[in-house]
Amino acid sequence: MKKTSYKELGLVNTKAMFAKAVKGGYAIPAFNFNTMEQMQAIVQAAVETKSPVIMQVSKGARKYANPTILRYMAQGAVEYAKELGCKKPQIVLHLDHGDSFETCKSCIDSGFSSVMIDGSSLPYAENVKLTKKVVAYAHKQKDYVTVEAELGVLAGVEDEVQAEESHYTKPEEVIDFVSKTGCDSLAISIGTSHGAYKFKPEQCTRDPKTGKLIPPPLAFDVLKAIEKKLPGFPIVLHGSSSVPQDEVDTINKFGGKLPDAVGIPEEQLRKAAKSAVCKINIDSDSRLAMTAAVRQHFAEHPEHFDPRQYLTPARDNMKKMYVHKIMKVLGSNDKL
Ligand code: G3H
Ligand code: 13P
Ligand code: ZN
Repeated sequence: MKKTSYKELGLVNTKAMFAKAVKGGYAIPAFNFNTMEQMQAIVQAAVETKSPVIMQVSKGARKYANPTILRYMAQGAVEYAKELGCKKPQIVLHLDHGDSFETCKSCIDSGFSSVMIDGSSLPYAENVKLTKKVVAYAHKQKDYVTVEAELGVLAGVEDEVQAEESHYTKPEEVIDFVSKTGCDSLAISIGTSHGAYKFKPEQCTRDPKTGKLIPPPLAFDVLKAIEKKLPGFPIVLHGSSSVPQDEVDTINKFGGKLPDAVGIPEEQLRKAAKSAVCKINIDSDSRLAMTAAVRQHFAEHPEHFDPRQYLTPARDNMKKMYVHKIMKVLGSNDKL
């Protein structure tokens, strides 16, 4: 693919967006996408709520959908937003959990406006070295590409590495890491994790009325200590799906099997969004919204086999979820 700058595609980087979000006490939604329906739902929600948005692509998404197709889908997202009436869409195309310099370079060269280099599973010095290399390449582009780095380990599957336990980010390391690497934002570990099973039942308490799990709180003391070390520096939270129990119940009612799926309570994310946390990553909630709608549709219309019949409610349900997150959790509405 010919080397392309994201500006040619109508995309923006995260620099000004994050500065504004930190100052304004809200967070930018970072939604993962793999399919056209997810892309459409994200754009519809962002336009309707007048919100900036980060559309992010994982290694798995690149494998599933093909990197070229995803890049053109992001370009299409910008045009679609304009068609829906947004004069100046603020859309970032971001690589999620970049695992090597080569992957980051390939994304930057093809038009991504932001990349994450995830060296969090490496020893500290190697994480610094790799992040620094990606930052040097990203920042020397004609149009500055922003770089997210990570310190601390989230429990669960990250970068295809299974971590049994999370290791909170050490506040005493963040100044050294950010000044040595020059990264533009920092993903931290304060108790969130990837997927729909964020906590084991034994880490939670149970609501005696509903029998539902109540997860332990995030480590806001660690977040506070990091903010104190890096005043105003953009902080990122991964693994921030809240695993809505109505979607889980719908999935289970219509033949699914997701016992004890549990996420981060929205109340806690609302609190985090008011701090220096200015990017909140949500993927699993979109998967749940899509699956719940598809399962319900098939249960109610067993005779249907046209994908448009079941993907239309799936797309609508995802859009509803994205609008809810923007307006009621992150507070990024009316910021364009
Ligand atoms: O960080 C994990 C994201 O939810 C992406 O997941 O690697 O299955 O696409 P994936
Ligand atoms: P969830 O699995 O909580 O949606 O997290 C997504 C994420 O962190 C993507 O990088
Ligand atoms: Zn993540």
